[in-house]
Amino acid sequence: MTKPKVYITRQIAQEALDMIAQVAEMKVWPEELPPPHEVLLAEVQNIDGLLALLTDRIDASVMQAAPKLKVISNLAVGYDNIDVPEATKRGIVVGNTPEVLTETTADFAFTLLMAAARRVAEADAFTKKGQWQTWGPMVMLGQDIHHATLGIAGLGRIGVELAKRAKGFNMKVLYYDEQRRSEEEEKQFGVEYVPGLPALLSRSDFISIHVPLNPQTHHLIGAAEFALMKSTAILINTSRGPVVDQKALYEALKSRQIFAAALDVTEVEPISPDNPLLTLDNIIITPHIASASFTTRTSMATMAAANLIAGLRGQIPPNCVNPEAITD
Ligand code: DGY
Repeated sequence: MTKPKVYITRQIAQEALDMIAQVAEMKVWPEELPPPHEVLLAEVQNIDGLLALLTDRIDASVMQAAPKLKVISNLAVGYDNIDVPEATKRGIVVGNTPEVLTETTADFAFTLLMAAARRVAEADAFTKKGQWQTWGPMVMLGQDIHHATLGIAGLGRIGVELAKRAKGFNMKVLYYDEQRRSEEEEKQFGVEYVPGLPALLSRSDFISIHVPLNPQTHHLIGAAEFALMKSTAILINTSRGPVVDQKALYEALKSRQIFAAALDVTEVEPISPDNPLLTLDNIIITPHIASASFTTRTSMATMAAANLIAGLRGQIPPNCVNPEAITD
């Protein structure tokens, strides 16, 4: 029997490739940068399954070019790079990689929070540039983390893990989410619900964003929202770049309307080297690495492989965002 064909848009962990090789004939894009769109269109023509990354735009044109496609497995928990309604219409199941990255991502969000509060990146650059002259009572003063108030926008899995970390630092944790948690969960996580984003922004010392990107959350944080924040506030974003209006963020940081920001994601990735945000000393920008631990990236890859294999077999992947593609 001929094996199904799959295309994998980047080198991924060998464990995952070994799983896929047992059931499918696979081709892997060997380069570090994503395959150009025209290459993708050519490569998908005869495939049954596609394993994609968040940097690959999987839109109607890709699906149109792949008439046999049964499954798209995204190596990420977020899937805003995929036109899911289009996939569903075509009976293509879409898989993602939740849970395995939750704690690693929360660890990193808290890392950014601490680094921005205590100016770690700036202080490191200061030392390396030879600017450290003496112990100074006013040198590199930052914001306290302990007993400060953390506002979590979007209390999903990662938000909950962040709240747990914050509790270890004696922080007060507020949250806003369109879907309020039950009283029992709020008690269990030690979080207080705030009715609306404006109230969350004005009451918090740290604001960490954990919402998916969709038309409702695009530029969720813009000039009007920065105007509500404390002048000592610190914004952390490990979700998706376009949730924050970067031009408004630049103005807010430059004018010291807020104290600092730390982003793991930017509106355009990678951020252009001449982006004005990179000229500021009160921002930390990392290259979308919140889930980047050896263990987590391997787990994500094997989970994506398992989703792909199930889809090739005509089954609903273990982590599927549109089971209705084959159940309806
Ligand atoms: C995701 O999975 O959506 C992250 O952005 C990368 O781990």
